[in-house]
Amino acid sequence: LNIEVLEEQTRFEAAHKIKIGIYFAAWWALNVVFNIYNKKVLNAFPYPWLTSTLSLACGSLMMLISWATRIADVPKTDLDFWKTLFPVAVAHTIGHVAATVSMSKVAVSFTHIIKSGEPAFSVLVSRFLLGEAFPLPVYASLLPIIGGCALAAVTELNFNLTGFMGAMISNLAFVFRNIFSKKGMKGNSVSGMNYYACLSMMSLLILTPFALAVEGPHMWAVGWQTALAQIGPNFVWWVAAQSIFYHLYNQVSYMSLDQISPLTFSIGNTMKRISVIVSSIIIFHTPVRPINALGAAIAILGTFLYSQAKM
Ligand code: 3PG
Repeated sequence: LNIEVLEEQTRFEAAHKIKIGIYFAAWWALNVVFNIYNKKVLNAFPYPWLTSTLSLACGSLMMLISWATRIADVPKTDLDFWKTLFPVAVAHTIGHVAATVSMSKVAVSFTHIIKSGEPAFSVLVSRFLLGEAFPLPVYASLLPIIGGCALAAVTELNFNLTGFMGAMISNLAFVFRNIFSKKGMKGNSVSGMNYYACLSMMSLLILTPFALAVEGPHMWAVGWQTALAQIGPNFVWWVAAQSIFYHLYNQVSYMSLDQISPLTFSIGNTMKRISVIVSSIIIFHTPVRPINALGAAIAILGTFLYSQAKM
């Protein structure tokens, strides 16, 4: 009987690993497509506050339709759920808009190289704001992360301060988002998919007034006409693709966060950046100097060392 139980357990664990593997592969692939269409749109239509809002609006609409047609179960939520979600939504909104502003100013690869420094922010926030202490190797692993990002930044051919700061702000905001999310998801019965749906809707409500204030309908109308004239009707499909893929990759990432530890999640997220950095350099013919690539490689190696040290 014991052997049967063991075999059953081994099969269960293997199935779980395959499921997480599929989630990770889907998350990375959807993210690559998002990043490419997002940049194509931003190159023709440099209004990141509107494109960020559209991604959230599209995701919210997709989920409302899924709930109305019973493709997905409607989550059972109460006032406490939405109250706990609020700080997560604030952090998600800031992190999302800051990353999009960054990508409107610099190469996708540069934004993601800086974003690979997220574990360093995670350790610093946990240490100085939450009072959590880490073993020495964890702090030591921050040196290559910070050093690699710094080397990549100072050798970047098309450096832009807003682009750099946007990626840094996004890092900080997403550390808070991940800490609050895991806490918020723990005690309730809302699935990862529905949790992200509610998060999108709340972020949309937060972001819309700011997008209107920072950019506004007049700029959007002029920009839209220019982009349509330049690209043709395909431009509308690019906007649709960046919005749909934004929702899908985040939805899948939250479905996996539901099943894995925040540490495994952040490692998966950094490894995802390698595929984004490589594919965007190829697709957009981004000029990269060897010293710049070395900085990125050191930063990513640092993340790997960080994950080993944390384990
Ligand atoms: C965004 O627009 O929210 C960013 O591109 C998100 O970046 P990340 O999910 O890769 O951290």
